[in-house]
Amino acid sequence: MSQQLSPETGRAALKALLQERSPLGPLKVMAQHIGRFFQIPLPFFHPYIVFGPEANRKVLVTERDKVLWRNTDPVTDVLNHGVLIVDGGEHDHYRKLMEPSLHPSTLPGYTPLILSHTERVTSQWRDGDVVDMLVEGRKIALLIIMDALFSKDFWNDIPRIWNPILKAIEFISPGAWILWRKIPRPGFRKPLKELDDYLFAIIEERQKRVETKADLLQHLIDAGLSKQLIRDQMLTMMIAGHDTSTALLAWVFAMLGQHPEVHQRLVNEVDTLEKSPLLDQVIKETLRLYPPIHIGNRRVAEDFHFDEGTIPAGERMFYSIYLTHRDESIWKDAEDFCPERFAHGRKTPPFAYVPFGGGPRSCIGAAFGQAEARLVIAYLLKNFSFEFTGHPIHAHMGATLEPRPGVKMKVNKRKLNSINGT
Ligand code: HEM
Repeated sequence: MSQQLSPETGRAALKALLQERSPLGPLKVMAQHIGRFFQIPLPFFHPYIVFGPEANRKVLVTERDKVLWRNTDPVTDVLNHGVLIVDGGEHDHYRKLMEPSLHPSTLPGYTPLILSHTERVTSQWRDGDVVDMLVEGRKIALLIIMDALFSKDFWNDIPRIWNPILKAIEFISPGAWILWRKIPRPGFRKPLKELDDYLFAIIEERQKRVETKADLLQHLIDAGLSKQLIRDQMLTMMIAGHDTSTALLAWVFAMLGQHPEVHQRLVNEVDTLEKSPLLDQVIKETLRLYPPIHIGNRRVAEDFHFDEGTIPAGERMFYSIYLTHRDESIWKDAEDFCPERFAHGRKTPPFAYVPFGGGPRSCIGAAFGQAEARLVIAYLLKNFSFEFTGHPIHAHMGATLEPRPGVKMKVNKRKLNSINGT
């Protein structure tokens, strides 16, 4: 199959860019016109894109030794030696230190804090308020991750640290630096330093304490990691562990707002069932259509052969979760929001559904993120009614795939329910 860009594909890609206001449009066009293996034809930036079950299996499992996670870009500049972007033994060491805190068996222990932070944020909502679920979701997700992993109550720090976090996320998001790596990027140094100082202060405070905690931060300290390395893991977990959950929460509410019939059925289910199957299906289907991490970024270390062609060593490669999840040959009516496709007993082919990646480097927080989403969404739906304001929403390719310009919903406290979780 040819991976060259014909003038017709180029025109269709441009049209899609203008229509969808995001590079996702052109990516879909190139996938349709060229296939599951193609190269982005930009000056100074020509990564290969692969997708589909076979490619995913190779990249994530069977031939993963041919790729490196470490690249040279703003992500590595900021996360430095974070577990997400280092390779080999170094990666395995950090991962092993952090896994116990996110093991599925620990999750029930986090339920009370997940619910109490959700309650805290929503206690500020007044009847009739229009809230942005992207903003509220971020507050909830940040409070939860800081408490769960570092036993840090983030509430009073939100006003001070909110902007530095958003700036860190903006810094690692795709931008003009893709075409010009050394482009001047003013306005980031100060907020990034504030974020570092904040994390270093948390580490120092913990190191001074006599009584210990059993959280992820303590595991890192007890393992004898340097302060800088602890900071790298904390920043990685703080960003990877909240920006993804924020996007998921916001997209779920965008989907419910745009599909009132599903919304109504879901409210009925969470009101009456202790564990709502539809809630699970809604979360899964939202992750299919809008996977917060929509691509995996790799550097090819040795020539990588696919059925459609070879990626030479040294090149950048992305495996596209987004394109895999919208492949019409795998998913019937792939563009439609249809939670029932995940109803009990229906199976998806291996590596066709990869919202958390796959293989030994799949998402370390997958179980945590899903449990968190179930608890937070059920709590919100039980305690508030949500009315979507009907504004247009498009998918923005930031550090995660985000609904822009947010998801604005009118909220009212529901009178029927006592405050409880799932
Ligand atoms: C809805 C929530 C989440 C989604 C959709 C998600 C998605 C992903 C994906 C797709 C990957 C693999 C990327 C690749 O192959 O290049 C990944 C890796 C990772 N995720 Fe998540 N994630 C979520 C929540 C979390 C949470 C809650 C945490 C932390 C508590 C977390 C921490 C990480 C880390 C550290 C890695 C790197 C793992 C490694 O390389 O060993 N994620 N995530």
